[in-house]
Amino acid sequence: MSKRIDVSDLDVYYGDFLAVEGVTMAIEPRQATALIGPSGCGKSTFLRTLNRMHEVIPGARVTGKALMDGQDLYGQDVDPVTVRRQIGMVFQRPNPFPTMSIADNVLAGVKLNNRRMAKGEQQDLVEASLRGANLWNEVKDRLERPGSSLSGGQQQRLCIARAIAVRPQVLLMDEPCSALDPISTLAIEDLIAELKSDYTIVIVTHNMQQAARVSDRTGFFNIAGTGKPGRLIEMDDTATMFSSPREKATEDYISGRFG
Ligand SMILES: Nc1ncnc2c1ncn2[C@@H]1O[C@H](COP(=O)(O)OP(=O)(O)OP(=O)(O)O)[C@@H](O)[C@H]1O
Ligand SMILES: [Mg+2]
Repeated sequence: MSKRIDVSDLDVYYGDFLAVEGVTMAIEPRQATALIGPSGCGKSTFLRTLNRMHEVIPGARVTGKALMDGQDLYGQDVDPVTVRRQIGMVFQRPNPFPTMSIADNVLAGVKLNNRRMAKGEQQDLVEASLRGANLWNEVKDRLERPGSSLSGGQQQRLCIARAIAVRPQVLLMDEPCSALDPISTLAIEDLIAELKSDYTIVIVTHNMQQAARVSDRTGFFNIAGTGKPGRLIEMDDTATMFSSPREKATEDYISGRFG
């Protein structure tokens, strides 16, 4: 299922504003790639270009190339909805549908894709997805309760279950633990370690320890000043990035000297 993504010379705009400039990056399958960098440097913006969520904002556009296993994600005949199904996304704040049941939350993405499923098939998918998100044991006796009845960490795992229920090839996560307590954070990190055997994972995080713990490769974005575009400064194996980065700006950021 897992796929690689190759981005080359990607510029990302909001109208006339160039928010991210010149990103060239290889994202490897069956690995977790962490994106780090100070606030406003364009991590979320860049992440959203990978599944064509960026362009839903009026005036927002992209130039350059983004390929998934060699296929142009921005090709003329490519349907963005298909791209979003193949490349799922988990957001900073857990966003389950509050009044929808836990089971229906898991199925929400699949139903949006108009897939018809028999009851038994639905139940199997709910169980498999909740197991995949490491939430099954905590909710199996209350699948009909609303999504809002779960704790924050459980809600985030529910959103991960919803994302993986559509069987994506890539999972994008934008600060998925920033609203969670340390225990829930560790649960999500353990889950990422498991998920990467099946999915390509890209995670934006402000937490250096988290990047070091969960990712195989790390990319550091930075911004030269207000109004300037964000750029990818350096990308390497996570161990190398955290022990001997090439760029001084990377070292300063990682060691907490700015950002
Ligand atoms: N919808 C939008 N319309 C216009 N500009 C935007 C929009 N979203 C973000 N930007 C701008 O794009 C730049 C990059 O923002 P982005 O949210 O990608 O940064 P980030 O690295 O994710 O920051 P943070 O760490 O705070 O989440 C910023 O200058 C921001 O103001
Ligand atoms: Mg962001």
